Amino acid sequence: LHAQLTIDPAQRVAPVRRRTFGTFVEHLGRCVYTGIYEPGHPTADEEGFRGDVLALTRQLGVTTVRYPGGNFVSGYRWEDGVGPRERRPRRLDLAWHSTETNEIGVDEFVRWTRLAGLEPMMAVNLGTRGVQEALDLLEYCNLPSGTALSDLRVANGAKEPHDIRMWCLGNEMDGPWQIGHKTAREYGRLAAETARAMRMVDPGLELVACGSSGSSMPTFGTWEATVLEETYDLVDHISCHAYYEEKDGDLGGFLACAADMEHFISTVVSTADQVGARLGSSKRITVSFDEWNVWYMSRFQSAPPPPDWPVAPPLLEDHYHLADAVALGSLIITLLRHSDRVAAACLAQLVNVIAPIMTEPGGRAWRQTTFHPFAQAARYARGEVVRVEPACPSYETAEFGEVPVLHAVATHDEEVTTVFAVNRSATEPLELELDTRPLGADGWIVQATTLTHEDVYARNTADDPERVAPRPNTDHRGDPLRIVLPPVSWNVIRLS
Ligand code: AHR
Repeated sequence: LHAQLTIDPAQRVAPVRRRTFGTFVEHLGRCVYTGIYEPGHPTADEEGFRGDVLALTRQLGVTTVRYPGGNFVSGYRWEDGVGPRERRPRRLDLAWHSTETNEIGVDEFVRWTRLAGLEPMMAVNLGTRGVQEALDLLEYCNLPSGTALSDLRVANGAKEPHDIRMWCLGNEMDGPWQIGHKTAREYGRLAAETARAMRMVDPGLELVACGSSGSSMPTFGTWEATVLEETYDLVDHISCHAYYEEKDGDLGGFLACAADMEHFISTVVSTADQVGARLGSSKRITVSFDEWNVWYMSRFQSAPPPPDWPVAPPLLEDHYHLADAVALGSLIITLLRHSDRVAAACLAQLVNVIAPIMTEPGGRAWRQTTFHPFAQAARYARGEVVRVEPACPSYETAEFGEVPVLHAVATHDEEVTTVFAVNRSATEPLELELDTRPLGADGWIVQATTLTHEDVYARNTADDPERVAPRPNTDHRGDPLRIVLPPVSWNVIRLS
């Protein structure tokens, strides 16, 4: 196969947004307990945070972390998680059929984000709760002192305000599985009331209204339109959530899943702009793609629920293979290609639960295959996003119609231009010819790496953690510049 791609900095989309590289920590399974937190673990600090997970989190290049849910937040009482640990109640977590011990709450989580050098992003409960509880949490977190709840935070040991800037107004309220699930009108009204009150405390907050839990939701489109009719002037972002998996062995279809994300973003942006036009507003709503990943949800849904109410059971622990990592790379390319309207994104989730980082309780931590495209994009996407439209063969998929075999985006700053590229072909290498003339100089490849494996279902394990990892790609030459991308591969090509 052969493809040709021109890199023209004039095809600028927007600056790379650091918040594209967010992730998510939910009180779910072993994400918090034995994930980020495990007192007594050999690498744990005096607060119980695992040093090995912190180191991998930094290496992943994460910028923002959403917390504490997810479905969990829709039944959560944040007050349970603050103050002396011995007085914190144990509660049923209905969303995940588990017991929540509340050993970790907002103060510990924010301390962990500071250690990891991350921005926290907070979700409020609009399932079982409403305006007042959201205001209480905001007061507790962000007011310096001098009021009942800010003084309580200080008394609990957090002298400085947490200063959380980005707040999600509930989670997946369009989903019938959500505690307190609502119609779009009901949710839109509640989100508007909550946003209005939160802005009275701090007009500068960034607020996210819940959009759709997936593009196949029956209310997709009308949900966004109705919610934004109620909230347009009060929120900054609308959320999108999407999970993908290989179905019935259809590898080609799975590797094309970014086509759905592409359609999802474009539809939400057009819907938002249409509401804006109707309201006569010049404001532009942006997208917070605050849950996205590969998730074998069908396996989870067909498994029986745990019989009792365990504490931190292993849940949603997908073990990712090479093809999963390549599909995930393609999703990152899509998010970057839409950097003009996607203001933030969170890979769901960070550790153990559908995550790039896995841990053994009391033992080792390692990087899943999906760790690598995320970490490389977070590290090397710099400057401006540049749209590239490769000339390449395409193939037919049952779900998404005809899809190009090469999926790519570039970023560009004064020092380096980087191309992120996925070869979706299951069998054929792709010779990619790069036309760098618009860059104003003869480009040459300073570094090229490829993530691939002869077995597309190869996984990393605690015993073999480097089985699937990026390796140098030396199969390139100049004049014209060409590089060979193996079948089912994620590639990072750095040019100077
Ligand atoms: O990330 C796992 C779950 O997926 C989240 O709790 C929920 O918001 C979504 O359905």
